[in-house]
Amino acid sequence: METRRRTVLAAAAAGLTAAAAGTGAAHASGSRTPARERFGRMPDGTEVHRWTLTGGGVRMKVLSYGGIVQSLEVPDRHGESANVSLGFADLDGYLGESPYLGALIGRYGNRIAKGRFTLDGTEHQLSVNDGPNSLHGGERGFDKRVWDVEPFTRGTDQGLVLSYVSADGEMGYPGTLRTRVTYTLSAAGEWRIDYAATTDRATPVNLTSHVYFNLAGEGSGSVYDHRLSLAASRYTPVDGTLIPTGELAPVSGTPFDFRRAKAIGSDIRSDHPQMLHGQGFDHNWALDKGGSARPAPVAELYEPRSGRAMSVATTEPGLQFYSGNFLDGTLVGSSGRTYRQGDGLCLETQHFPDSPNQPAFPSTILRPGETYRSTTVYGFGTR
Ligand code: GLA
Repeated sequence: METRRRTVLAAAAAGLTAAAAGTGAAHASGSRTPARERFGRMPDGTEVHRWTLTGGGVRMKVLSYGGIVQSLEVPDRHGESANVSLGFADLDGYLGESPYLGALIGRYGNRIAKGRFTLDGTEHQLSVNDGPNSLHGGERGFDKRVWDVEPFTRGTDQGLVLSYVSADGEMGYPGTLRTRVTYTLSAAGEWRIDYAATTDRATPVNLTSHVYFNLAGEGSGSVYDHRLSLAASRYTPVDGTLIPTGELAPVSGTPFDFRRAKAIGSDIRSDHPQMLHGQGFDHNWALDKGGSARPAPVAELYEPRSGRAMSVATTEPGLQFYSGNFLDGTLVGSSGRTYRQGDGLCLETQHFPDSPNQPAFPSTILRPGETYRSTTVYGFGTR
């Protein structure tokens, strides 16, 4: 899981200097406060803002709507920046049919079977929005809410604290859930996400980020040449509706073995039965070092032509690797190109899907008096 990220930071920083020179306060690094601009209005008139964070040659644009990463510019090995995250040019794109492009996901990342679970003897029915199941928090999850945003600077770090209070019963979930998500971009080109939440009634919580990465640049084609490694010896097979069967299966000898880096495309057309359910990779890997108190390195992504590399470290026990299978050419992305199958991939750190119905999986239940905490760090560099 060695990134060789440090060796390229100087080049990345040089890229930033060039980029920052002509662009003024919004793009300056270091001690300045993140810049804010208007991005659009919600149908009810609420204004949506876009914030710009910079650090280590990386420039990230974040919306108050859905905590969405609307753009993520990262230099290549020659210092040329490209937007490596799929997104839309304007708010209307996000208000339409967005497959969670760049968004914060809550209250529950991934699926809960039939949107139903029993907790402390009470059955709860959630909003069902994906065939028979509840996906990513239901019909109107955290990705479709306007968050309160507070900018900060701390030394050479820039960041945003995003807060949202989800009312008791929202999307069928019990308890008032108070969520704070902190995005920090460091001078080393690391994007750190710290999630925290409290509740006044026991409730499942599983927060994640749904950025679609394409390290060659969004709209440039498929990610099948990207090389991925995942430090996971087991994964959770699913049924035809993408709900885990409960089994923890070894990856050994299957297309799911990413313990040594391999091109995503090498097994993408495999006829392994599990590859047919989601038309590609759309599974949860049980991370070997998962569930640690501090973020542990769990994944690395590398794009050979640009030389861009991204590392993932997390405190979560699982990671959903989704190879953008359901992108079908109907969406036009931020630079005007259509997104087709495989044009972006997600590495969603998480607890396992459907945990409220799977007693053997690590628990996702948060109780009053406890604080939910989770951290994931995406590090950018080149080789
Ligand atoms: C997750 C799911 C996928 C799909 C995408 C959104 O990654 O696992 O099956 O629903 O979100 O399109």
